[in-house]
Amino acid sequence: MDYDTRYPGIDDLKRLAKRRVPNFAFDYMEAGIDREMGKRRNRDAFDAVRLWPRYLRDVSATEIEVTTFGRRYAMPLGVAPVGLGNMMWPQAERSLAAAAQQANIPYVLSTFSTTDLAEIAQAAPDVCWFQLYTPQQPAALKDLLARVQAAGFHVLVVTVDIPVGAKRNRELKNGLKLPFSFTWNIVWQSMTHPRWALTTLRHGRPDFVNVQRYRSGSTTGLAEFITNFSAQGVSREHLRTIRRIWQGPLVVKGVQHPQDALDALNLGADGLILSNHGGRQLDGAPSSLESLRRLPDEVHRRMTVMLDSGVRTGLDVIRAKALGAQMVFSGRSFFYGVAALGVKGGRQVAGIYRDEITRTLKQLGCASFEAMDGSWLAGA
Ligand SMILES: Cc1cc2nc3c(=O)[nH]c(=O)nc-3n(C[C@H](O)[C@H](O)[C@H](O)COP(=O)(O)O)c2cc1C
Repeated sequence: MDYDTRYPGIDDLKRLAKRRVPNFAFDYMEAGIDREMGKRRNRDAFDAVRLWPRYLRDVSATEIEVTTFGRRYAMPLGVAPVGLGNMMWPQAERSLAAAAQQANIPYVLSTFSTTDLAEIAQAAPDVCWFQLYTPQQPAALKDLLARVQAAGFHVLVVTVDIPVGAKRNRELKNGLKLPFSFTWNIVWQSMTHPRWALTTLRHGRPDFVNVQRYRSGSTTGLAEFITNFSAQGVSREHLRTIRRIWQGPLVVKGVQHPQDALDALNLGADGLILSNHGGRQLDGAPSSLESLRRLPDEVHRRMTVMLDSGVRTGLDVIRAKALGAQMVFSGRSFFYGVAALGVKGGRQVAGIYRDEITRTLKQLGCASFEAMDGSWLAGA
């Protein structure tokens, strides 16, 4: 095994992360919305999927590589976009991007990342994708897309599921604001996590460096800043404009309804990431697996169907494929890793998933990820 077996699963990294980072940072990563039922629903949906193992067959060679938008990746798992990443651990974004490059898996950089987009494109030249929160100002949209294209990002992922800022009670109670400011509560929590605090002081306060130039106004609550910057919902017209400007593969993230998937297809998108934003936007939203089951066949035939929200094991990746997803992403898995183990975290998470995906396929008697399909489903 090419990872540290003291932390053999994502849940082990989560436990360690909780101890290592101050509560306000852990809560930011962990929070769902309202009563956090959507987040639980994500896990319940994965846990309910059972697969029939088949034995009496040769699985000595197991292929887990996938080709997505013309590139060969080492496995069907990528790093989902996470804003304010460096608050979880200083330089989290850069180290995860470098780990993704080394592991040859997609790294999706958030518009609200805290590392310059050009720096990430340099750290992950073969695997970098960019996630767009669509700016309200047309000039800002054009400028941002030009910078993303010039930096060399391969795929553009347009997130459509934030028409309004989420009210996340954990964030409100912790008084998380931007620019990131040291209130008494935050200073106290930081003092009780000196390693996090000293490393953060050394690397500077995290800020939304990629959109600073388009910013007006002063300190705001986190959710408010995000909606003020981006369009109040991404319209079809926005998507048409983005399709006209962006030359490469275009993915729409946050789609759940079958009609939205068809609309994205008709507006020229090449792929979808079905997602309920990790349970962070609408507590009554379906899990991504429920959305996947309702997706029209035409979408499966003509688009690259991917998903995120709740993926925590290699088995989950295989479950998603059995139901029709070509690639999956996780946000929290990777950020637990980096919060728990610093720069070694990304490699650890990639190593765990690679091992679990391979073992699960062998255990199921399936010679390749591509060959996994609905015929393995035993129930859900
Ligand atoms: C702390 C945090 C910040 C996030 N920031 C963004 C973001 O900036 N853009 C985006 O499209 N999605 C964002 N997401 C959603 C993730 O891309 C992804 O949909 C979600 O994390 C998947 O669920 P999982 O964390 O259970 O794997 C964020 C998620 C978390 C946990």
